[in-house]
Amino acid sequence: MIKQKIPGKPVTVTINGKKYRANEGEILLSVAIREKIEIPHLCYEASLDPYGACRLCMVEVVRKGKREMATSCTLRAADGLEVLTDTPEIVKHRSILFELYLAEAPKSDVIRDMAAHYGVTRTRFLKRIEQGDPLGNKCVLCGLCVRACSEIMGAGAINFINRGPYTVVNTPYYAPSRDCFGCGACVRVCPTNAIEMEDVGADRVMKSWSDTRVPLSQCECCGRYYAPRELSASVLARLDTPLKEEISRLCPECRGKQLAQNEILAGRGGRATHG
Ligand code: SF4
Ligand code: FES
Repeated sequence: MIKQKIPGKPVTVTINGKKYRANEGEILLSVAIREKIEIPHLCYEASLDPYGACRLCMVEVVRKGKREMATSCTLRAADGLEVLTDTPEIVKHRSILFELYLAEAPKSDVIRDMAAHYGVTRTRFLKRIEQGDPLGNKCVLCGLCVRACSEIMGAGAINFINRGPYTVVNTPYYAPSRDCFGCGACVRVCPTNAIEMEDVGADRVMKSWSDTRVPLSQCECCGRYYAPRELSASVLARLDTPLKEEISRLCPECRGKQLAQNEILAGRGGRATHG
């Protein structure tokens, strides 16, 4: 479960010699993102606790004249914290990592463009290309999809499988998942656009997850299939003010129109029908 964090007291941090305001305990990478300071990253997602898996967001922390490397997604702002984001050591570290990611996800345009932005266009490592890879040889094993599925959605439909160089992410035994809601959280958090999902007729098909099929709700007004059935039912069940049955069977657009019409009718002395 994601905990809501209370902002700490205001502090001053120094990034590349310039001072910035932050909240004590705030993630340094999020301060950098807010201040538009470029630090490459793959496994940071604001809605999940930082994990420090990809190592791309390394910075150098300056303490008492000494420097040490740290991942900026796990580094917390404190008064007087000083970091450098582009030292020769950091550039070297990043370049090697980009080479590794170019080999790990050789078909990823995102990785290719990101690496090129930092001057890395080739890899000395053996490229991992698997025919028929469900993730299109674009996965960097950052784990965000696995964590979003279990920590945000509570589904746990996917996980790391196999070990060492054979590690991949997928459903257990590559079997269609019964735990998947088809919510698409994995698709949204994936930094390399590796996960394929498509709505086909009355089903959402999670193509990368062993073609898991999830039934969609159909709008009773326009006939469109619009959201995974189980997911929309659970969202509607959690509304503070329940919708009337006939309204709840509409897609969001038709529902909005119907509610607006009801408001107009109610304003004219007509009979409102929403819950
Ligand atoms: S599929 Fe995407 S989100 Fe999941 S581990 Fe691979 S790169 Fe990360
Ligand atoms: S974003 Fe910090 S280690 Fe991946």
